[in-house]
Formats: sequence, C-alpha cells, structure tokens
Amino acid sequence: MQAKKPVTTSKLKKMKQDGTPIAVMTAYDYPSAMLSEEAGVDVILVGDSLGNVVLGYDSTIPVTMDDMVYHSRSVVRGAPSTFVVTDLPFMTYHGSLDLTLRNAARIMQEGLAKAVKMEGGREISAAVEACTQAGIPVMGHIGLTPQSIHQIGGFKIQGKNSEQARKLVDAAKALEQAGAFAVVLELVTEQLAAHISEELSIPTIGIGAGAHCDGQVLVFHDALGYGSQIAPKRFVKAYADIGTQVRSGIKQYVDEVKGRAFPAPEHSFRMEEEMADFLYGSKK
Ligand code: KIV
Repeated sequence: MQAKKPVTTSKLKKMKQDGTPIAVMTAYDYPSAMLSEEAGVDVILVGDSLGNVVLGYDSTIPVTMDDMVYHSRSVVRGAPSTFVVTDLPFMTYHGSLDLTLRNAARIMQEGLAKAVKMEGGREISAAVEACTQAGIPVMGHIGLTPQSIHQIGGFKIQGKNSEQARKLVDAAKALEQAGAFAVVLELVTEQLAAHISEELSIPTIGIGAGAHCDGQVLVFHDALGYGSQIAPKRFVKAYADIGTQVRSGIKQYVDEVKGRAFPAPEHSFRMEEEMADFLYGSKK
C-alpha cells in the first residue's frame, strides 16, 4: 500500500475553505503516533500536555526543550506520513528572537517536526513573525493557555465577557497577520470560537471551543481513557477506556506469575531430551 501524503499548511487552509473538518490528535511516542496515523488523523500535535499525561507533572510548566525534542522524534518515527506539530515549551519563545529561533529550529532539526506551536496572542507576534519569516510554520494557541495557568488562576472558560472576547479576536488576528498557519482555541465559548473562525482565513482548531471551529484536537490520553488520574472533562468525549483494559491485563499477568500459570509450556522452549542429559546429569 502506498503511504499517504502528509497534509501541508496550504492543504489545511484549503480544508477550511472547502468546509472539510480537520482532525488533530496529540501523541507523545512511537506507538501513539503510529496508531493515530493508521486511524487517519490529519495532524499530530506533540503537545506539552506531555508534562501532565506522560511525565506525571501537575502542569506543563516543568516540560523542557529536551523533553519536547525527544518525544517529537519518536512521534515522527511512528507517523512518518503525518504532519507533526510540536509545542515550544514554557518560556522558550519569550526571550530574544535569536533564542526563539534557535529553539524552534531544534524542534524541527532534532525533533523532526514540520511546525511549532506557541501559546499567546499579540504579545508573541514578533516571535511568530520571526519564525515564519525564517521558514518555520507556526500554529498559534489562544484562550486557555496552560503555560500561563498560574496567571489565569485555573482552568476557566475564556471569552465570556465582551472585553475578554475583544482581546481574543485581536489575538487571533495578530497571529494570522504574523504568519501563523492555524490557531488552537482552547476553552472558548462556542459563539466566540465561531466568530473567530469566520474572521480568520487560517483554520481554527478547537478544544472545548464548540462545534464551529475548522478542526478539533483532543489529548490522546483523555480521548482514550488512558491513565488512572484523568478526571473527566466536559469538553472531552472518551472514545475508549484503555486504562481499565491495561490495568486488568497487568493484574491478570501478576496473578498468573504468582500462581505459576505463566509462562505455560507454549511460551517456553525445550531442547532435545538427549541434548539436555548433561543438564540433568546424575539427578536423572
Ligand atoms: O499541549 C497540548 O496538548 C495542547 C492541546 C491541548 C491543544 O496544547
């Protein structure tokens, strides 16, 4: 079978124009990427939600450039025919433009991603522009931006009043003007997300932002019920419950080892009896 061609930034724009919804899923390693590619996602996001769902931190803030590069590489190996976007982690695009460019370049050269994602609006537009001018595609991310969780003060719906809403529309337009090829809208009211999606010529990718975005993104572990500490979120639909399956599979393994039921003869290898004589020796 011929490998499918990865989407491109211009294909994503065309999908918006044609009204074709864009399916984005996060992945963090070889198997999650391979399964997502096989299932036909358009874009894989190596999100810094890695910090929460894979590394066990309580936020995305401790995630480092080295973490993102390492996980991005394994995702690209698992999904060579998918457009992979990798997050720039906390405070790696807020210093000098030179440092921003070097970090974004690492995501592409060492992490092998095709694009980077950055959180923020007008305040990061110079960083977005520097990257896009240098040939590095950028996906923006506004609304609830987890890297600013301590400033925001919790996971709150964004854009509920007119001032917040105006700021978010301005943020989205600033990102588009700076050259971003798409914008994630996280935890934004559905009316505001619909308005922003109409105003922009680039696709919006929603998470907790209603049905009128040009695409949707979910975190792999949330969507598949993978992990034991995942509190159900209203905007997530769980399409599987693999955490329960994994836990019960491991429990059965432990029970069978303790009960000497595993390994059974079919899992073991025997040499010819005569060859084994030297092992049995005089005990035989
Ligand atoms: O880090 C992440 O997984 C994200 C998505 C939730 C959009 O930014």
